[in-house]
Amino acid sequence: MVQLVKGSRKSGATRRIYLSLRDQITSGVYDAGERLPSSRALAGELGVSRTTVTAAYDQLISEGYITVRQGAKPTVTSEGRHPYTRPASQAQEPTPQVSAYASRAMALPKNISAEQAALQYDFRYGDIASSDFPKLAWRRALNAAVLAYRERLGYEHPAGNLALRRALQGYLWRARGIECDITQIIVVSGSQQALDLCARVFVDPGGQVVLEEPCYPMARNVMLATGAMPVAIPCDKDGMDTSRLPVPKDVALAFVTPSHQFPLGGVLPSGRRKALIEWAISGNTYIIEDDYDGEYRYDVRPIPPLWMIGQGRVIYVGTVSKTLSPTLRLGYMVLPGTLAEPFVRCKQITDRHSSSFEQEALASMIETGAYESHVRKMRRLNAERRT
Ligand SMILES: Cc1ncc(COP(=O)(O)O)c(C=O)c1O
Repeated sequence: MVQLVKGSRKSGATRRIYLSLRDQITSGVYDAGERLPSSRALAGELGVSRTTVTAAYDQLISEGYITVRQGAKPTVTSEGRHPYTRPASQAQEPTPQVSAYASRAMALPKNISAEQAALQYDFRYGDIASSDFPKLAWRRALNAAVLAYRERLGYEHPAGNLALRRALQGYLWRARGIECDITQIIVVSGSQQALDLCARVFVDPGGQVVLEEPCYPMARNVMLATGAMPVAIPCDKDGMDTSRLPVPKDVALAFVTPSHQFPLGGVLPSGRRKALIEWAISGNTYIIEDDYDGEYRYDVRPIPPLWMIGQGRVIYVGTVSKTLSPTLRLGYMVLPGTLAEPFVRCKQITDRHSSSFEQEALASMIETGAYESHVRKMRRLNAERRT
């Protein structure tokens, strides 16, 4: 007798019959060589159509649990007897042998907030109020991207959608004074991927990476997971104390937040900026400039990025996480020209490219001026909220 938990939804009947029979076969209720009821008999017994049972039997046949010969009842195969065993609990599974990278990642503090019910007062850092997201403008831009005529849907260039890179080229010039070629721009899945790509391109296990102290934890985590040796440089109210930098030639990479030190908030003064660049030049090393909220300055004019005096030693990283939303996972890098090739190769291996529709939507928001008008609105709103 086939045991079946009866459900009311007809569409799930085939799946329930399939699962029920599969469990009974693998757990030994049906032994190899035993016969199952004919599809007609089982359909009658369960009060379902014969097609429903036949579809479940077909699935069991294709997975090798049963065979059916013309006119005969389905027979349980010997191979089908134990192909699928579900451990009773995770505790019974052997400890996975993960890579050195994964082991280092697992040893880091877990920075994943549990799914939780809405808090009455939410002081978590980094999120954007849902009411601040420009829903209509984004929907319009995304609709246009999805509906735009294109011959085929295929992979894009790993560096990113051409329209977005063109739009970013103009935006970066207008908003941050950065003048670059579109071949120097790579669209990434948020700053986090930019940091990960920097680690892939420059850092081998044991390589020294200069970090601010205190430091943005997600930047430190990328470097620690890669196996880097962090060199922590203390920060004061003006950001990183560049007089404490180590001998540059031994350093693979440095990470700074010069426009708004995270988390202390200082702005790196020009003397320290020059010292940092000279240090990088003398050691032929590179500096990551994380300009995560460069659009937002309230008491002073926007701070020019380090990139502008960088003499080819600065990798500029920007994001829409603070202007639109971190949920979009969109960011961009501006690279010294000679670095474009290794970064494009690593980006392609990592995820081929960032999501095309979202890239196009952002491109059209920038091109129509909707992005910058939203940033201006956010700047105004944030300034009001500060007072
Ligand atoms: C210092 C710093 N950099 C970058 C980001 C943004 O990261 P992402 O673009 O990966 O969302 C944040 C977000 O809170 C940040 O605090």
